[in-house]
Amino acid sequence: MKIGVVGLGAMGSGIAQLAVEAGFDTVGREVEMARAEKARDQIAHFLTRKVEKGTLEQGARDAAVARLSLTTALADLADCDVVIEAAYEDLEVKHELFQVLESVVRDDTILATNTSALSVTSIASVLERPERAVGMHFFNPAPLMPLVEIVRAERTADDVFEAAFELGVKLGKTPIRCSDTPGFVVNRVLIPLLNDCVRVLDEAGVTPQALDAGMKHGAGWPMGPCELLDLVGADVHVHASEALYEKLREPRMAPPARLVRMLQAGKLGRKTGEGFYRY
Ligand code: CAA
Repeated sequence: MKIGVVGLGAMGSGIAQLAVEAGFDTVGREVEMARAEKARDQIAHFLTRKVEKGTLEQGARDAAVARLSLTTALADLADCDVVIEAAYEDLEVKHELFQVLESVVRDDTILATNTSALSVTSIASVLERPERAVGMHFFNPAPLMPLVEIVRAERTADDVFEAAFELGVKLGKTPIRCSDTPGFVVNRVLIPLLNDCVRVLDEAGVTPQALDAGMKHGAGWPMGPCELLDLVGADVHVHASEALYEKLREPRMAPPARLVRMLQAGKLGRKTGEGFYRY
């Protein structure tokens, strides 16, 4: 099986890493070759760390890195069996990508989207064969988080849905089946929860450090909410929050003012070197 990954940002590069580690020839597509090479360097780095820690053989690491080819041309995804789109969260961008992808791939190629806040049904609406579209929503960091949500859109074919589930298993994940509702399962719960966490900062007058310690040591979270928001990025979180608020109109879904200010100031988290914390 050959996998295509469109967009090699934080999520796409993690998904490409999973695919090559699982033994699939993988084509990664980015808009600029420099960005694609940066993603490959990162994948190579994480696989090298695994060798250093004794969880991966050197030969297996080299073979995995060699299974990844890079391109800027969507036409190079023509012979992929499954293409996973992990591009920018913008409906127009995804519509254009899906239309071009459908024109280059085979009739039986599955087109999956890693969208976290857009409707898979709406993304698939531009396809001539929307039955081939499905959601495969991974969690950040994709190589470490076990879950993948397999999202059935209105017109997803049964065999496509099951094939995406099986692919999730082959990628070493724990897939769950769900419907195309706003936020699917985890973000429907996690986004308002993280928004509450940010509001509590000001309401209770606690520091990010204290809130993080509270949720780690009082609720068993693996990382605190402010650390997690810095990992996800204020831009990604605010965008997902707004998308959920637009659809559900629940006040808790709306992005908290403090996070919007951080976004406006370019304090996006790890990716810009400053969020709730400095990196
Ligand atoms: N890709 C690949 N490998 C990575 C990586 C990445 N992005 N980040 C780290 N690693 C590797 C590293 O090699 C690291 O080892 P070294 O530091 O020795 O090199 C190794 O993984 C282990 O990393 P950690 O020691 O940091 O692992 P940890 O035990 O602290 O766990 C964690 C890290 C899994 C991220 C854990 O803190 C956790 O579960 N956090 C919660 C994350 C979470 O909730 N994510 C969901 C975000 S919401 C979302 O994604 C939805 C959405 O739509 C926006």
